[in-house]
Amino acid sequence: MSQASNPLSPPHPIGAQYQHTQHALPSYLQADNLGPWGNYLQQVDRVIPHLGSLARWAETLKRPKRVLIVDVPIHMDDGTIAHFEGYRVQHNVSRGPGKGGVRFHQNVTLSEVMALSAWMSVKNAAVNVPYGGAKGGIRVDPKLLTRGELERMTRRYTSEIGIIIGPNKDIPAPDVNTNEQTMAWMMDTYSMNTGSTATGVVTGKPVDLGGSLGRREATGRGVFTVGVEAAKHIGLEISGARIIVQGFGNVGGVAGKLFAEAGAWVVAVQDHGGTIYREAGLNVPALLRHVEETGSVSGFVDAEKISDDSFWDVECDILIPAALEEQITAANAGRIKARMVIEGANGPTTPAADDILAERNVLVLPDVIANAGGVTVSYFEWVQDFSSFFWDEEEINLRLVKIMKEAFAVIWNVAQSRKVSLRTATFIVACQRILRTRELRGLYP
Ligand SMILES: NC(=O)c1ccc[n+]([C@@H]2O[C@H](COP(=O)([O-])OP(=O)(O)OC[C@H]3O[C@@H](n4cnc5c(N)ncnc54)[C@H](O)[C@@H]3O)[C@@H](O)[C@H]2O)c1
Repeated sequence: MSQASNPLSPPHPIGAQYQHTQHALPSYLQADNLGPWGNYLQQVDRVIPHLGSLARWAETLKRPKRVLIVDVPIHMDDGTIAHFEGYRVQHNVSRGPGKGGVRFHQNVTLSEVMALSAWMSVKNAAVNVPYGGAKGGIRVDPKLLTRGELERMTRRYTSEIGIIIGPNKDIPAPDVNTNEQTMAWMMDTYSMNTGSTATGVVTGKPVDLGGSLGRREATGRGVFTVGVEAAKHIGLEISGARIIVQGFGNVGGVAGKLFAEAGAWVVAVQDHGGTIYREAGLNVPALLRHVEETGSVSGFVDAEKISDDSFWDVECDILIPAALEEQITAANAGRIKARMVIEGANGPTTPAADDILAERNVLVLPDVIANAGGVTVSYFEWVQDFSSFFWDEEEINLRLVKIMKEAFAVIWNVAQSRKVSLRTATFIVACQRILRTRELRGLYP
């Protein structure tokens, strides 16, 4: 492993007399099992040579500012008591309050939440919204809970992390398996605990409760916007392009719909229930209705069912991973037929897979810019909540598209001039912004 890609290597020399007191990793992580945090560390190592004098501060990117682990006990409907493990991680708050979603999933780990919080720091700086990065999660399969149990778990979790969240401290939002209803319960719980209605404590709320028009579609719209911009650079025509999508929820469903409306053919879709394929393109509006009614793409009549593994072999121009981390690995990156991968999900591509795709000339639009549309409209929601003045959807979409296009253009130019991947280019732009504020603020006390 080269020095640059070793997540355990110190990023820059430190005073020799202090070296014995420095540990490359926090004690709560295992070096041989770093999970998604290890991928993030490798991505940081790739940016450090490009940071100039700011590299002196780079260690701050490798350590989350604050990690909170909470026990979430609730009464189950059958009279038993269940305990769930919850997390809230604030990776960096140099540029503003923490911002990032809350994930309910049975496989959530601290390493995953740490990585997701760090990617939020990078993403928020990449689109230049005034936030740091944070993320939360509960280790639970919410599909096994009744609505009452889900509400009690969400409320207790919110109370437990209430000591570090707040409209000016850290603002959660939806992520995998959480939605507008989850945010409404979180907002109400926080408001009850603090004694006044605090709409700005979470984003992604229902529109009736201080939510923003356009928020639900924002991430998918951002994926579509940067996809169209990048396609122009590589001479790929969207109309008639063949697209495959992994994950057909909030992000993948909306992105698939917008690409289909622009004339692309969504030929394969995979979700937790299975994989479907249609050579001549799936009927996306009908598929979205099917998912709404049944919870999965599985069983959709006007399509062929294929094995999950063969999804990676489907002939296509664009692949949109929009489910979970570590889906594109060294094991399947060589099979991908797409010319372009647009990362709707966070962390779907491992660093080793990134290198294979680069060698094969597959353009990867990284999560830290491609899925930044959601947090951009979350920022609009937060601003609207503070001013109690709400914008119409047209204005929101116009501003969203403007921010995404401008941010992507800056990143594209950095990638060209430095001859680096779009991921490293995004990290260069974002980490310089983060570390500049770190340097300007200085160390307290
Ligand atoms: N919602 C947002 O605004 C937002 C913003 C930025 C990034 N993201 C990221 O996008 C991704 C998807 O989030 P979402 O909000 O659309 O979640 P969601 O819960 O709405 O949808 C998740 C989708 O992934 C599918 N899925 C789950 N496990 C799978 C598996 N093992 N194989 C294939 N598919 C699987 C589910 O069936 C579902 O279709 C996550 O990585 C999330 O962090 C979401």
